[in-house]
Amino acid sequence: MTTPLHSACAYRAQLLYFVADPATLEDPTEAVRYHSDGLLLVNEQGQIQACGDWAELAGSLPPDTQQVDLSGKIIMPGMIDTHLHFPQTDIIASPSSGLLPWLETYTFPTEGRFGDSEHAREVAGVFLDELLRNGTTTALVYGSVHRQSVDAFFEESHERNLRMIAGKVMMDRNCPDYLQDTAESGARDSEDLIKRWHGKGRQLYALTPRFAPTSTPEQLAACGELARAYPDVFLQTHVAENKDEIKWVSELFPNNRSYLDVYDSFGLLRPRAIYGHSIWLDEQDRARMHDTGSIAAHCPTSNLFLASGLFDFQSIRNSKVLHTLATDVGGGTSFSMLRTMNEAHKVARLNNYHLTAASMFYMATEGAARALDMQGQIGTLAPGAEADFIVMDPKATPLMARRSTMLNSLEEQLFMLALLGDDRCIQASYSAGRCVHQRDH
Ligand code: GUN
Ligand code: ZN
Repeated sequence: MTTPLHSACAYRAQLLYFVADPATLEDPTEAVRYHSDGLLLVNEQGQIQACGDWAELAGSLPPDTQQVDLSGKIIMPGMIDTHLHFPQTDIIASPSSGLLPWLETYTFPTEGRFGDSEHAREVAGVFLDELLRNGTTTALVYGSVHRQSVDAFFEESHERNLRMIAGKVMMDRNCPDYLQDTAESGARDSEDLIKRWHGKGRQLYALTPRFAPTSTPEQLAACGELARAYPDVFLQTHVAENKDEIKWVSELFPNNRSYLDVYDSFGLLRPRAIYGHSIWLDEQDRARMHDTGSIAAHCPTSNLFLASGLFDFQSIRNSKVLHTLATDVGGGTSFSMLRTMNEAHKVARLNNYHLTAASMFYMATEGAARALDMQGQIGTLAPGAEADFIVMDPKATPLMARRSTMLNSLEEQLFMLALLGDDRCIQASYSAGRCVHQRDH
C-alpha cells in the first residue's frame, strides 16, 4: 500500500497546473504553468520530484529512472470533487420533481442499506472506480448515517492509497427511523471514526451533519463541540440549496436570521467547513462565510437537475468567499468534473457571468486544494506534492480531434476540454505515483 515504487518514473507529455487564481490576475495566463514538451519526474515515495521542460530535465535523471512517453497527451493534477455522496451511486439519474421528494423517494430508502458492511464495501469500490475513471483523485464524500458505511469506504480507499475525505452523516430527526442516530450516538460514532481514520495513511475525516432540517439543535451543538475539539478535521453540510428547504429551516429555527445563521450559531462556520450549494445566500451570509474562511461548493449538474437555482458567481467572487466545484452525485448527474465544468459555465452565463476555462480548471485543482487548506499537497504538479495526476487525451473523440486543429490559445484548448470532455478523455489516473486507472484496460 505505502511500499515505495520500484523506481523513479519520468513522464514526457504536455504539463499543466496552476500557481495562482486566474480570476484575480490582470493577465490570467500568469496563473498557469504550461510546458508544451514537459517532463514530470515522480520519485519512489510517490511524490513529484521535478516538473519542467523535457529538454532541460531529461539529461539529469537519476539512474534507473523508468521513462514513459506520453507525447500528445496532457498531464495535469488529479481533480478534486468537493461534495458528493457515495451511498447514492446506484440512484444517480432518478427522476423527481425537486430536492425534498427526491430525498424521500430515492435517497433515504437507498441509504438504508448501508448498515450492511458488505454492501457498503461493494458500493464504495464501484464509487472509487468511477471517480478514478473520471480523473478525480480526491473527493469530499458523505457516507450514510451508519458508521459501518464510513469504515467500509475508508478501508476501500486506504487499500488503494487514495487521498480521500469522508464522514458519517449525522441526522436525528425528520427522516425515517431506520436512518436516525441521536445527538449522543452521532457524536460518539463520529469521534470514534475521527480517532480511527483521520490521518491514517491518506484518509481524512469530515464531520457531516446532513443539513439543518435533519438535525436537532442538540445534535448541531454536539457537532460544534467536536468541531472545536478537532480543528483540523473537515466539516461538510448543505446550505441554501432549495426554496422549499429554506422555508422549512425558517420554521424549524425561527430565531435565526438565515439558514446559514443556524450553522453559525452552533460554531460550524470555520476553515475546512464546506457548504454544498450555497445558492440562496444574501450579502450578510456571504460576509460571514468570507470572514470565517468557510467554503461554498458549487454543484451545477445537481442544481440544474433538481431545479434548485443558479449559483451566483459574481456575488460570491465580489465577497471573496472561497468556492469550489463539485458533482453532488447522486443529486448530480455525472461523476465527471469536466461535465461539471460544462454546466458550471452555463449556470454562470445565465447569471451574466463569464466563467473562464482557466478558472474552472483552477477550481478543480489548485483552487480546491487551497480552499481545503491542502495547498502544496494535492491539486498541483509542483515538486514536493503527492503524485496524484491524470493523463488527458485532448483528441479522445473524433469531434475533439477535429476541434483540436482550430485552437488558438490555451484558454480555447481548456474550454474545448471542459465543454466536450468527459471520462473518455481520461486516459489514466495516478495516485501517489501508482496507476489506479488505465482507460484501455
Ligand atoms: N440536502 C440534504 N441531503 C441532501 C442530499 O443527499 N443531496 C442534496 N443534493 N441535497 C441534500
Ligand atoms: Zn449533497
